[in-house]
Amino acid sequence: MERKSMERKGEGMDKNEIKAATCAKAVEDLVKSGMKVGLGTGSTAIHAVREIGLLIGAGKLTDIFAVPTSFQTLMACETWGIPLYTLNSKEINGALDLTIDGADEVDPNNYCVKGGGGALLLEKIVAYASAAYAIVADESKAVDHLALRFPAPLEIVPEARVSVIQAVEAIGASAVLREAVRKAGPVITEHGNLLLDITFRSPVDPALLERELNQIPGGVENGFFTRLSPRVFIGRADGTVEVRPAASDGSISVMRSGPK
Ligand code: 5RP
Repeated sequence: MERKSMERKGEGMDKNEIKAATCAKAVEDLVKSGMKVGLGTGSTAIHAVREIGLLIGAGKLTDIFAVPTSFQTLMACETWGIPLYTLNSKEINGALDLTIDGADEVDPNNYCVKGGGGALLLEKIVAYASAAYAIVADESKAVDHLALRFPAPLEIVPEARVSVIQAVEAIGASAVLREAVRKAGPVITEHGNLLLDITFRSPVDPALLERELNQIPGGVENGFFTRLSPRVFIGRADGTVEVRPAASDGSISVMRSGPK
């Protein structure tokens, strides 16, 4: 089994293998026993949840206090035997040591667009309550400019749908109501809201937009994540992981590690 996975790395890994290997490195580097950890949502972050669950099962991680960012992640924690809390739990008291999550796009400043899985509201609350933040992404997520190709979501209260779309269009962007798959009508978030998917025609200032979009009446939260400096793990098909340091790492160099 081990040999087969090494051979796969030599051949070039598929996207799911890249996500799994990159999450394993992030967990190995950052998650320590006794930590209060925020756990992100999506097909990448779920590998980090699984990895933490396996380490707990093997007795290599103990006293983990996990706060999930979605129902998907909560169920994965249940499956993998990860102790569950909320940000409001007495043991967490509104502050986490670390959050690990995926992203839809990451730019060279380590700014992100998130919310492709519709969980951006709790993902941002949990991330911004964390002392350290890590993003795991495969190389297809690394872009020069955010929200030109993949939309930045804006979670809105349903009553403000038309007025928010007009406000977004007034700043020269396009806003599309996210439609559900295998359910008629729009996506309803885990907080009972709607999602607008916003794309821009030319490069934008993500930090400015993170502030401005939330000023629109009826806007709840948007998918630009710029107020943290995450450590970003970018996995490649050749088995290498590029680690872009967080500002708090005190280094601007890019570290690379190869297949083990
Ligand atoms: C969910 C998110 C996800 O982290 C983001 O959409 C990336 O998902 P995936 O790892 O499945 O590509 O923000 O709201």
